[in-house]
Amino acid sequence: MKALILVGGFGTRLRPLTLTLPKPLVEFCNKAMILHQIESLVKAGVTDVVLAVNYRPEVMVAVLKETEEQYGINITFSVETEPLGTAGPLALARDILGKDDTPFFVLNSDVTCTYPFEQFRDFHIAHGCEGSIMVTKVAEPSAYGVVVTKPGSSIIDRFVEKPVEFVGNRINAGIYMFNPSVLDRIELRPTSIEKEVFPAVAADHQLHAYDLQGFWMDVGQPKDYLSGTCLYLSHLTATRSPLLTDPSQNKWVYGGNVMVDPTAEIDPTALIGPNVVIGPGAKIGPGVRLQRCVVMNNANIRDHAWIMSSIIGWNSTVGRWCRVENITVLGDDVSIKDELYVNGASVLPHKSVSARLQ
Ligand code: GDD
Ligand code: MG
Repeated sequence: MKALILVGGFGTRLRPLTLTLPKPLVEFCNKAMILHQIESLVKAGVTDVVLAVNYRPEVMVAVLKETEEQYGINITFSVETEPLGTAGPLALARDILGKDDTPFFVLNSDVTCTYPFEQFRDFHIAHGCEGSIMVTKVAEPSAYGVVVTKPGSSIIDRFVEKPVEFVGNRINAGIYMFNPSVLDRIELRPTSIEKEVFPAVAADHQLHAYDLQGFWMDVGQPKDYLSGTCLYLSHLTATRSPLLTDPSQNKWVYGGNVMVDPTAEIDPTALIGPNVVIGPGAKIGPGVRLQRCVVMNNANIRDHAWIMSSIIGWNSTVGRWCRVENITVLGDDVSIKDELYVNGASVLPHKSVSARLQ
């Protein structure tokens, strides 16, 4: 089976992290975002993965070479010379997606969920129409594509991207399955799957909605990345996953939903949780308090620092008695001097902060 992942551009909304790594390689719960997706696709029997990118993908090629070998799959980089939007990349990858008559998956690269690809494929094959969209419910649908189905049916009647007026609260989760015939509807030019392709397929009654069970989040910006982290950790708790740190063995875990890489060093007097991820090689000093935050590889949180709702980038240091909160994001190798208050700041890689940031 085949899949195309819409990797896209520079991930500007996830800066400063994406100044160091392309968005798909930024870790989400200690694993590159794209690996969560590729591993789930492989489990569902996918052997050909196309990554649709619109920048030079050298760093990704090197990392994903290993993934190819590990899973025995083919990963192809389909590189656009100009951004082709969310549909144009399908036309560019026509040779692979249309090489046989089996259906293929398409994914936005910035969504997290349990990726129930096998059930989704079975649903798609059972209805026999041209396309399927995974849908989920959100309280505030205006930032998404809204799906309206015919009463009592999974057939999509209308698809409205980023509606200005309320249309409904079932939204496009950014995961699709199509028969190769859809390629005949898409020209090789910048074009939007949401604005051009979905309305046309829906008008022919060829598009169905599949209700995703469980959590879902678009993690393409820091606030949502943190919310998505909480949802994913809660899911791991609910499924008793061994990926979580066992509170009965580690007295510094407070309130659960804590994932600490085994190579991280945690002082026993720190208090960590709920909803915290700590990456490989990180050091957490005495008396540190962490809640609802992500500490990436080799970061150093010094004595009595207090961090909430923030992302501490790779190799960064937060000084003693610092208070960091309110969706602060530190890039790679940032240094925050002792006793500072950092509130809602975004700090570029390799910077040193020596005065209060608010
Ligand atoms: N290759 C390529 N080329 N990929 C692109 C391009 C492009 O020119 N433009 C965007 N993408 C990729 C992005 O990297 C992302 O993975 C995906 O296409 C969707 O683009 P976003 O910019 O993240 O769109 P959005 O979040 O505002 O809306 C989309 O996702 C929502 C779910 O999170 C839409 O599909 C909505 O309908 C949907 O509800
Ligand atoms: Mg998005």
